[in-house]
Amino acid sequence: MAVSEQPPGPGVAGWLSDKLFNNYIWRSIFRSGYPNTPRNQMLVVATNVFLHLHPTRLHKTHVRITHTYCLGGLTFFFFLVLTVTGVMLMFYYVPAADRAFQDVAALETNIRFGMLMRNLHRWMAHGMVISVFLHMMRVFYTGSYKPPREFNWLVGVILLTLTLALSFTGYLLPWDQLSIWAVTVGMNMAGTVPVMGEQSRFILLGGFEVGDAALIRFYTLHVIGLPLLAAIFMAVHFWRIRRDGGLARPL
Ligand code: HEM
Repeated sequence: MAVSEQPPGPGVAGWLSDKLFNNYIWRSIFRSGYPNTPRNQMLVVATNVFLHLHPTRLHKTHVRITHTYCLGGLTFFFFLVLTVTGVMLMFYYVPAADRAFQDVAALETNIRFGMLMRNLHRWMAHGMVISVFLHMMRVFYTGSYKPPREFNWLVGVILLTLTLALSFTGYLLPWDQLSIWAVTVGMNMAGTVPVMGEQSRFILLGGFEVGDAALIRFYTLHVIGLPLLAAIFMAVHFWRIRRDGGLARPL
């Protein structure tokens, strides 16, 4: 009998669970038996690639909604929905100055579910910015940034910057008057930064004004560079919560 194998229970139910959970195929995929004992329950979590992100044991205060309001989790959820809806939008949007505006207009009028996808993407982006701020405030007001969690606070600051950068780069993509002038103003502000201002403005715009080169740069940053960085730092953020001994406990 394998280490975590269960002896068959009584009756038909016992026979059935024995056949289901103690056979070769099941055991080659899942390394644990039916989660009816504390040991098996822990094994189910620890040996599953998705579930192992969670700790096998929790302090009861961590599942209390008023401790975290799940604001970090909500931010992550928004990020996931943004990724899915963003990929959908990529099927119909071409980042070229002579097409972008028409493509976005077509999403609103011609393309089935286009308006839904665009609006989901937009509202989730607003939601993510709001929830990341609220999450940061929660962490601050519960003192959860204190040692040993100061490094994770730093990772959080990088995530906040990436979230805002994602929002800013996405703002140019509809290529309407609002987005072109908003980004022009934003980039002029960046240009006033001492020492590196002018250079970084030139690099980001690919020239001296908002044009075709700026659109393709913002697009590439928006759909590949920044989401990839955000995903990497989120993985570090979540891993670090575990390494720091789980969430901070309330006083
Ligand atoms: C994309 C942005 C972010 C995501 C997806 C995210 C996600 C999470 C999640 C899921 C948790 C677990 C607890 C909870 O849900 O509240 C958490 C905890 C934490 N986050 Fe974030 N976070 C983000 C940004 C930030 C920011 C901006 C900061 C601070 C500057 C921060 C600092 C922390 C710290 C210190 C903890 C541990 C809190 C504790 O031990 O109670 N995070 N984060």
